[in-house]
Amino acid sequence: MMLPEISRSMLKNAAVLGLFAVVTVGAVTLLQQGTAERIQAAERAAQVRALGEILPTGSYDNHLLDNSVLIQDRLLGNKSPLPAYIAIKDGRPSAVILQAIAPDGYSGAIHLLVGIHADGRVAGVRVIGHRETPGLGDKIDLAKSPWIRSFEGKSLSNPENAGWAVKKDRGEFDQFAGATITPRAVVGAVHRALHYFDAHKAELLAVDGGPGAAAIDTLEGRSEPAAATVHSRAGSAATRDELHTTEPEAEPQGDQP
Ligand SMILES: Cc1cc2nc3c(=O)[nH]c(=O)nc-3n(C[C@H](O)[C@H](O)[C@H](O)COP(=O)(O)O)c2cc1C
Repeated sequence: MMLPEISRSMLKNAAVLGLFAVVTVGAVTLLQQGTAERIQAAERAAQVRALGEILPTGSYDNHLLDNSVLIQDRLLGNKSPLPAYIAIKDGRPSAVILQAIAPDGYSGAIHLLVGIHADGRVAGVRVIGHRETPGLGDKIDLAKSPWIRSFEGKSLSNPENAGWAVKKDRGEFDQFAGATITPRAVVGAVHRALHYFDAHKAELLAVDGGPGAAAIDTLEGRSEPAAATVHSRAGSAATRDELHTTEPEAEPQGDQP
């Protein structure tokens, strides 16, 4: 008589445990999904904010996140395609916002948005992900210092090549007190992004970003227009894998922002 009672009790315990496990797994899954969606929404909002900061209101009349092309190129520092955003005003491309990665920050890759007017002048640059040291390298973040705005209006000819360096390297851009590596990396990445734009502006500015628009995937290690391959459209928004924000929960990992 004891044995069946014990078995019943064991079965009951097993059932309770099983139910607990199912409920817990379900709750964790739901929580994960909710969190992932919230992170995506926060990142999208951060991107919209950064894109809006780079290009003045009125300089375009399209939805930037809905007008993107995928680009992969050595000059942009990415090893997998990342979206670039095409600004359109009155039906004509007015600017491009490229994503660039500086691989040589003090603490690893620094992820940037580089806005370039159709005429080749820098509209603005924003850091969207980095792990530089607070109080030293993090002055590349506009929230910490206005340094990142020193690129505005610059172009490949202003300054000439030699000027695209920090002052310590006889260039035009300030370094920070006790931190030269970070600004040096950012100056280099912005300069390379300008070279990319210069080599590809015809393709970039020909893409209207509308439905069916092409994505430009320049093969890694090559940046000649002839190397560009046309792929299907990037879609309306960058995914979590494609972009980091400066929000603390999103950490840059190598070249995969
Ligand atoms: C703990 C620690 C953190 C540092 N973080 C940074 C940083 O984020 N960015 C940076 O440029 N330099 C940073 N530095 C300073 C660099 O090591 C280097 O001394 C500085 O960038 C000057 O570089 P230079 O000798 O090439 O001019 C850090 C140094 C220490 C000890």
